[in-house]
Amino acid sequence: MKQTLKHLRRVGAITAAAAAAGLLLLSGPAPAQQPGKIKIGLMLPYTGTFAALGTSITNAFKLAIEENGGKLGGREIEYFTVDDESDPAKAPENANKLIKRDQVDVLVGTVHSGVALAMAKVARDTNTLLVIPNAGADEITGPLCAANVFRTSFSNSQMGIAMGKVMAEQKKKTAVTLTWKYAAGDESVGGFKETFEAGGGKVIKELSLPFPQVEFQSYLTEIAALKPDVVYVFFAGGGAVKFVKDYAAAGLNKTIPLVGAGFLTDGTLEAQGDTAQGLLTTLHYGDGLDNPKNKAFRAAFAKAYKVEPDVYAVQGYDAAQLLIVGMNAVKGDTTKRAELVKAMEAAKLDSPRGPLALNKGHNPIHNIYLRKVEGKENKVVGIAVKDLTDPPRGCKL
Ligand code: PHB
Repeated sequence: MKQTLKHLRRVGAITAAAAAAGLLLLSGPAPAQQPGKIKIGLMLPYTGTFAALGTSITNAFKLAIEENGGKLGGREIEYFTVDDESDPAKAPENANKLIKRDQVDVLVGTVHSGVALAMAKVARDTNTLLVIPNAGADEITGPLCAANVFRTSFSNSQMGIAMGKVMAEQKKKTAVTLTWKYAAGDESVGGFKETFEAGGGKVIKELSLPFPQVEFQSYLTEIAALKPDVVYVFFAGGGAVKFVKDYAAAGLNKTIPLVGAGFLTDGTLEAQGDTAQGLLTTLHYGDGLDNPKNKAFRAAFAKAYKVEPDVYAVQGYDAAQLLIVGMNAVKGDTTKRAELVKAMEAAKLDSPRGPLALNKGHNPIHNIYLRKVEGKENKVVGIAVKDLTDPPRGCKL
């Protein structure tokens, strides 16, 4: 009995204390919904052929955050970083390190389509918010689209679609394609073939080599023998530097026009030097785009990092801009996921590439420019496709 009384008294005391605390809560300032920092997981390549791309994305992402007072939705940021090595086999483990071990609120990455496909799966399975600042795997914003997965870059087929159209308009009749054999290259070439052949051209040979190999000699020999009207390629980063140099060293730049998805000459011109002069490429960005945002962005990036920005920097910057819109809408409260997603879906970004909106699958709708290398610049010489948007391709959102 005594025990029971004591017990009851204790319960009473606890209840009274809880009531007092409740009063305090009611009368005091409203507590922050989610105190502490927002954790951002950057999963990008910092080694290998795409290392410079990962660094460029990271730098520009951080620049946009700095310009926003170092915060997202009013909360400070804590970064967690993983080098994904552009290795799809390591991707699930790397993504889980950030999600399960570091408990990040948002995952940002990556460059390589194969790695991104694995990241998107982990993001879907764990319902983690994912923003992709490069990898173009068509499926991610097509049949595999998800409410929690966004992309601020492009889809792989977009650049090929644009260049195939331009080459058909230039009355080229035959083409050979060459790429690394994986989603990015296959889809880029697929887009090229679709519009080039619809416009009356013929892809007479599709060549490929495993990623990230750079032994191009036998392919160059074959191209020289096939003598197509044009060669369309997808290469990027270190591999793009070597390919353009090798193409010129083989003398092919004098006889068979080389064109490509704009990654061939973006962030690479310093290293390619004279060998890249005159190359035509298609991309959703060009260095000299004449809009105020691009000028301000280029000046701020060059000041902060002492190098000129490239398309990867633009995409990283826009990934942060998209998150700023979403997090502002929920005042940094990441538990308000539906509201956050809605705000991101409706975002109208002032991108260095021009106005940027997303389609139903959360993929950019943007102009694809025709560019020509002049000196150290990818000079915009025209719009290959205006406001290109992907077909829904089975996205059910
Ligand atoms: C990709 O794997 O999707 C990819 C990689 C590098 C690029 C573009 C696309 O520059």
